[in-house]
Amino acid sequence: MYPLRRNRRLRTNESMRSLVRETIISPNDFIVPLFVVEGKGVKEEIASMPNYYRLSLDMLQKEVKELWKLGLKAVLLFVKVDDKLKDNSGKEALNADGLMQRAIKTVKNAVPEMIVMTDVAMDPFSIYGHDGIISEGKVLNDDTNAVLAEMSLSHAKAGADIVAPSDMMDGRIFEIRTLLEDEGFCDTGIMAYSAKYASAFYGPFRDALDSAPVDAKDIPKDKKTYQMDYGNREEAIRETLMDIDEGADIVMVKPGLCYLDIVREIKDTVNVPVAVYQVSGEYAMLKAAAEKGWLDHDAVMMEQITAIKRAGASMIASYFAKDVIKLIN
Ligand code: PBG
Repeated sequence: MYPLRRNRRLRTNESMRSLVRETIISPNDFIVPLFVVEGKGVKEEIASMPNYYRLSLDMLQKEVKELWKLGLKAVLLFVKVDDKLKDNSGKEALNADGLMQRAIKTVKNAVPEMIVMTDVAMDPFSIYGHDGIISEGKVLNDDTNAVLAEMSLSHAKAGADIVAPSDMMDGRIFEIRTLLEDEGFCDTGIMAYSAKYASAFYGPFRDALDSAPVDAKDIPKDKKTYQMDYGNREEAIRETLMDIDEGADIVMVKPGLCYLDIVREIKDTVNVPVAVYQVSGEYAMLKAAAEKGWLDHDAVMMEQITAIKRAGASMIASYFAKDVIKLIN
């Protein structure tokens, strides 16, 4: 009579397995990060991110049309800012005719139904490569928040659906929400990078935007006074609950794969959608291993994306979005 239960019955073939599969990936799961640069006809490959590009606005227009055809419905915009426009105040970030503001309009004109999310942070605009204003060797919290709120308002005015503050200053969600409400942008959403860890996996992204902290006297060498210590778990819950209290519509955990325990715990704790950012270093690792012939690119990619969703992600910001959808279509 032993065993009454044989779990292998439900694994006999692919039809059976697909019938009982708990986690299925679809285009609705993705946010596509896009890097935007000035110029015309520009599509430059990022050295540490094979097959991923910086795009000028005309190429961005083409790209979002293609994404929409594939069923991808949300993009997250980042801009690479000319060195001449960088300072310690984030002034260029508020330029109504700045690259980000034009990029938002470009996407909305090309595909009006596409959800446009925008990165709200000072680092691409900072001469020091930090997410805040620097004074006497410190990253100022409250002064930075004022800039982040104005930046969010500027993105909302340009047509952004959701602003995504990626800086980790304290209280910025409240500042942003308050200014958006005061100015009549009550429908503009906030996706808060709530549990964002100080991670070495961001390296290729900083190459893409030329936004790494500079090595200079009195400039912090890393982002550890604002991004979270990767040894911490409870702090992630605290950060996330505070962002929800302050008005975040979506919360995010970042990076992805090394932090799936945090994703699950937050998913079980909160009742707003949880986004996960599978970051540039995670992308680069698989590309490199696949290039060497050491890993099966598509198989590992699907396993990783499925694991992130299984852990509790309602949506995944991923550089693999297009690859995944092409594969499953
Ligand atoms: C900066 C920002 C970073 C990323 C998104 N926004 C890098 C950082 O915090 O230094 C990383 C994304 C990635 O690595 O893919 N505000």
